[in-house]
Amino acid sequence: MEFIDAFGPAIAKVKLPRKLLKELNVACEEGGENYGKNLMGTIEHPTAIPLPLLSKYHKFFADLAEEYHDRAYPEEPHALRISSGWFLRMRRADEFNPAHCHEDCNLSSVGYLKLPDNFDEICAENKYRGRLQFILGATMEYANPTITITPKVGDYYIFPWWLIHTVYPVREPLVGERRSFSISFKRKGMRPS
Ligand SMILES: [Fe+2]
Repeated sequence: MEFIDAFGPAIAKVKLPRKLLKELNVACEEGGENYGKNLMGTIEHPTAIPLPLLSKYHKFFADLAEEYHDRAYPEEPHALRISSGWFLRMRRADEFNPAHCHEDCNLSSVGYLKLPDNFDEICAENKYRGRLQFILGATMEYANPTITITPKVGDYYIFPWWLIHTVYPVREPLVGERRSFSISFKRKGMRPS
């Protein structure tokens, strides 16, 4: 696990195994419970990750979240559990995710399952389109308050629930879709902060 903590809160980056990516993609394409009521974006197709799949990979994801937690609080290890998970499928140029954080959890995460065939061209146009940006929220002299992430299939990021983030729209039609999933984690026996 690699940690990126240039501006304070660490962002963990992990490469997900192919088998897991495949199973998540299949589950996403099969559809599922609408998750749109829980999200604030303009994205049309949020669906919940099916519970059997979350259960199957609970230990895998919870262990990653635990590693993140224990690095920050080695003297207070807490078991973390998955509290929710959903897929996001961006298929139109005007879709975006406004700046937000994930409440009712302790840690948040996002992973990339599929990208449009023309994503490299989209990214070449400027440094924001189609990308994820984390925003610390305060401007500090000589300090960078943002980190901009270019999605890559298989990359998975874990971050604190309160870390504001946004996904920028693209201008040209997507050839294919930008597909991601998110999982939230709660500390066992604790109310989220
Ligand atoms: Fe988010």
